[in-house]
Amino acid sequence: MTTYRIAPSILSADFARLGEEVRNVVAAGADIIHFDVMDNHYVPNLTIGPLVCQAIRPHVQVPIDVHLMVKPVDRIIPDFAKAGANIITFHPEASDHIDRTLQLIRDNGCKAGLVFNPHTPMHYLDHVMDKIDMILIMSVNPGFGGQSFIPQALKKIAIARRMIDESGRDILLEVDGGIKADNIAEAAAAGADTFVAGSAIFGKPDYKAVIDEMRAQLAK
Ligand code: DX5
Ligand code: ZN
Repeated sequence: MTTYRIAPSILSADFARLGEEVRNVVAAGADIIHFDVMDNHYVPNLTIGPLVCQAIRPHVQVPIDVHLMVKPVDRIIPDFAKAGANIITFHPEASDHIDRTLQLIRDNGCKAGLVFNPHTPMHYLDHVMDKIDMILIMSVNPGFGGQSFIPQALKKIAIARRMIDESGRDILLEVDGGIKADNIAEAAAAGADTFVAGSAIFGKPDYKAVIDEMRAQLAK
């Protein structure tokens, strides 16, 4: 049986009360905290960095999954590892040396992964599967919370699922963007096991009710 993980994106949390927000969402059943890092260069928005990761780290025991939407990638990786990140993913287009960046993440004691935008070909995984712990399929174009799910992502999830199964390795398959209780089951059916949700969770007053509803949809 597949273990499903819910990974709330704190991009839609109240940044003025971030410690309380991450504690509340974990108490509500979050398995992972998804941490979106945007640099106003690789993506047209600017968010949070290692200092904020370090600040929330003592508030939660669950893994922190750092999604780097930055270019260049490498120089910020050791800082996130020191700040308590557990998983670090990056966009292959943002690294000149993908194998090196994956190795750098692992050498810093974190799990490593690649992120695929709606247009990004999956062949970036060729020859590096042995260094991959997570594949993240974007179901929106990166940069903002609250966008609509792009259905084409389901095909890419299915491709990634096949590649993971063929590899025989233990690799998380995460989907990110526009995930809600009413489409989470479709993403799971395509092969995803880890679900990022920002606005769907933090946009509602009762985080537990949303996460419970997502789990109920996954159990059907
Ligand atoms: C978008 C980010 C997402 C975003 C998801 O670039 O990577 O993690 O926060 O937000 P929702 O769930 O609102 O689409
Ligand atoms: Zn993200």
